[in-house]
Amino acid sequence: MPLILGLESSCDDSAAALVSSDRQILAQAVVGQNDAHRPFGGVVPEIAARAHVEILPGLIRRVLDDAKLSLDAVDAIAATAGPGLIGGVMVALLAGKGLALAAGKPLIAVNHLEGHALSPRLADPDLDFPYLLLLVSGGHCQLLEVRGVGDYRRLATTIDDAVGEAFDKSAKLLGLPYPGGPAIEELARHGDSQAVPLPRPLAGSNEPHFSFAGLKSAVQRAVASNRHRPEDVAASFQQAVIDCLVDRTAVALESSTAPSLVVAGGVAANQAIRSALAALAQRHGRRFSVPPAWLCTDNAAMIAWAGAERFAAGMTDGLDAPARARWPLDEAAEKVRGAGAKA
Ligand code: KG4
Ligand code: ZN
Repeated sequence: MPLILGLESSCDDSAAALVSSDRQILAQAVVGQNDAHRPFGGVVPEIAARAHVEILPGLIRRVLDDAKLSLDAVDAIAATAGPGLIGGVMVALLAGKGLALAAGKPLIAVNHLEGHALSPRLADPDLDFPYLLLLVSGGHCQLLEVRGVGDYRRLATTIDDAVGEAFDKSAKLLGLPYPGGPAIEELARHGDSQAVPLPRPLAGSNEPHFSFAGLKSAVQRAVASNRHRPEDVAASFQQAVIDCLVDRTAVALESSTAPSLVVAGGVAANQAIRSALAALAQRHGRRFSVPPAWLCTDNAAMIAWAGAERFAAGMTDGLDAPARARWPLDEAAEKVRGAGAKA
């Protein structure tokens, strides 16, 4: 059974994992840098890149030791090659190239978004192609038809902020620590989701795309008014996001015959969002799949798994594979205002 070593360093998590083609996670390790970035309220690219240089090699050592294996037992090295913060991307990609070169193993340059997109298949052996994917992370909010490995059609994207970005910016306005998603989810548990009137940008429109900038501005006004409890703002914000995600995904479900609805990416760790999308899938007669929360936020098991899927399809890369700051899954999709910079 092919065994893949996966490496990830495209944002603020350094990670390594060993995953086999029959979905066994032999070992995995993630080290986040939240404490280093917290004083700045967001990820500082230079700090992140330097931290990856210090942390990632030790994690590679650790997963090999945990699995009691040497590099000889590995069949291919999969490393994230983008999109992301380019200084960070280069760390895992170059580490992967060095290992591939030294051990004489093939390199697989993985698109981080493909890691998220295929991660549900690592957790759910019965999830077949095609499926409709809602990909919600710190840099993205997209609806994609996943037709096969390397075969994606983008149905919708955000015209301004990504959904994780909306969580992080709203959390900052509420004085909550970075990353904002988990902090808002926790605070929202104690609040009233109907207390603060907030907009649902684009809800009810026939156009497929997402928008979150107006929602963030409304949160800003609500906080500045001093008329609302923070927990009510958090709960109302989270409910507005859920309503937008459900409304836009319902539009995509109308135009897709894919039998399954899948949600992945860091924001898919949110329990309320998971429940709302499960209910939506049920209303539309679709199967629903979502990876466990740890597999939604950045990790290397999803990179190793995407590597395993690509390896099985004969897709390996040369040692000259580029590091890419921008790398859309669907290269043919039309550019959308605001979404271009983040793919
Ligand atoms: O996929 P990810 O780990 O990194 C990127 O590729 O961007 O996603 C990170 C994003 C952050 O914006 C974070 O606030 C958000 O996912 N996030 C959440 C939750 N956990 C992480 N958002 C809402 N609720 C959560 N529980
Ligand atoms: Zn990610």
